[in-house]
Amino acid sequence: MINAGIVTVSYITATVLFILALGGLSHPETARRGNWFGIIGMAIALLATVLGVVTQHYALLVGALLIGGSIGLVLARRVQMTQMPELVAVLHSLVGIAAVAVGFANFMDPDKHFVGIELTIHDIETYLGILIGALTFSGSVIAFGKLSGRISGSPLLLPARHWLNLLLLLGAIWFGREFVLQSAAGGGMTPLVIMTIISLLFGIHMVMAIGGADMPVVVSMLNSYSGWAASATGFMLSNDLLIVTGALVGSSGAILSYIMCRAMNRKFLAVIAGGFGTGGGAAASGGGADQGEVVPIDAQETAALLAGAKEVMIVPGYGMAVAQAQHTVFEITRVLREKGVNVRFGIHPVAGRMPGHMNVLLAEARVPYDIVFEMDEVNDDFPEVDVSVIIGANDIVNPSAQEEPDSPIAGMPVLEVWKGATSIVLKRSMATGYAGVQNPLFFKENTRMLFGDAKETLDEVLKTL
Ligand code: TAP
Repeated sequence: MINAGIVTVSYITATVLFILALGGLSHPETARRGNWFGIIGMAIALLATVLGVVTQHYALLVGALLIGGSIGLVLARRVQMTQMPELVAVLHSLVGIAAVAVGFANFMDPDKHFVGIELTIHDIETYLGILIGALTFSGSVIAFGKLSGRISGSPLLLPARHWLNLLLLLGAIWFGREFVLQSAAGGGMTPLVIMTIISLLFGIHMVMAIGGADMPVVVSMLNSYSGWAASATGFMLSNDLLIVTGALVGSSGAILSYIMCRAMNRKFLAVIAGGFGTGGGAAASGGGADQGEVVPIDAQETAALLAGAKEVMIVPGYGMAVAQAQHTVFEITRVLREKGVNVRFGIHPVAGRMPGHMNVLLAEARVPYDIVFEMDEVNDDFPEVDVSVIIGANDIVNPSAQEEPDSPIAGMPVLEVWKGATSIVLKRSMATGYAGVQNPLFFKENTRMLFGDAKETLDEVLKTL
């Protein structure tokens, strides 16, 4: 056992390490170090809590740590990079359900000795913890379903859905008030349970109403909610470190949501209201036929075009993650650069299925950071680009975002690849991307389609090069 002073010092150290971790994660070059700060901070936090705060039931604690830790280890080892967003959604749901469990345990604690205003404050903490926790839990479960394709990406738009949301919100506030009042008189369980059910329904309805194209904002928003749920748990348990850590996650998630909204040119409230984008990954329907013919190209012709180019822009998307083509992409980049071709990467802020998805893959394949650019840094350069290679990307290069005001993705900033001399699109079929919208880029005169799995076709391009 360690004394309270050491626990406090450990908590402050862990807090500083968590802040350094977030700072490190802001750039690919420092991300690895940032991760280590986070790991060390969490180890210190756990040790200080187990040795200094917990006083009984050690067997239960160790048992839970072993079971939870083993499940986490197996999941982390098994998960594919393309499943990471789903895993993150599952982890958010666990934070939410933990906040709900702590809230009920706290409320039912026979040893609690709050009276008067202290009891009211404690009840409000419990109420908020359970409210945010339940919302995070059910919302994250639905997000998991949507990200993994188990639930359709189409927004579920119930009639009068805004009124329904308002009703649920008012219901949650009303039963919260009832809970605090009844708790002062020794009761309160019934309104607390009803309020929990309302919050669960609210989370389900909120995420079900969100269309495919808005999922990036929802993922970061649930990330933020999970932080606030953890923070609320910290208040319930009077644990300062949990309060601070939760607030760090909550606020960084909120900033990320803001960045995502800007990247999608969307207003946060409009996202919550839902309805943007349709189902995900559907085969192109009749709309495609109106747009003309596509021009296919093979790997040898692609290699010849690339070898003859001066300026090449690579635009990776979700399909590169699916095909795990990043290592071949790196090899092709190396060969082209040796031939004197200027190769750059243009990264859309919501490419793939999680923030930074493409950067992680390219870093894994050791693509130099100084040729990887954000969308805004390269979008004006396309008129000077000879060949753009679009690897498994679709929505992020869709011109209808600019050209068709009625398009479900209208207004979303996109990489303007069609302004270059030639665009080569690598994908397996004419299926739509995540937002379920047909892409006129494929039918443009200067676009060539290289059909097939991106890894297989790029391997062939590399061989020819
Ligand atoms: P998408 O629009 O989803 O397009 C990916 C394309 O990759 C598909 O059209 C698919 O066509 C192709 N593909 C799949 N597997 C492939 C393979 N093995 N080889 C070659 N091609 C393959 O991806 P994007 O352009 O990266 O845009 C991201 C979308 O996801 C946006 O709508 C965004 O809003 C959404 N989203 C993003 C996030 C974050 S935070 N980044 C989170 C959730 C949702 P085929 O099936 O024909 O091959």
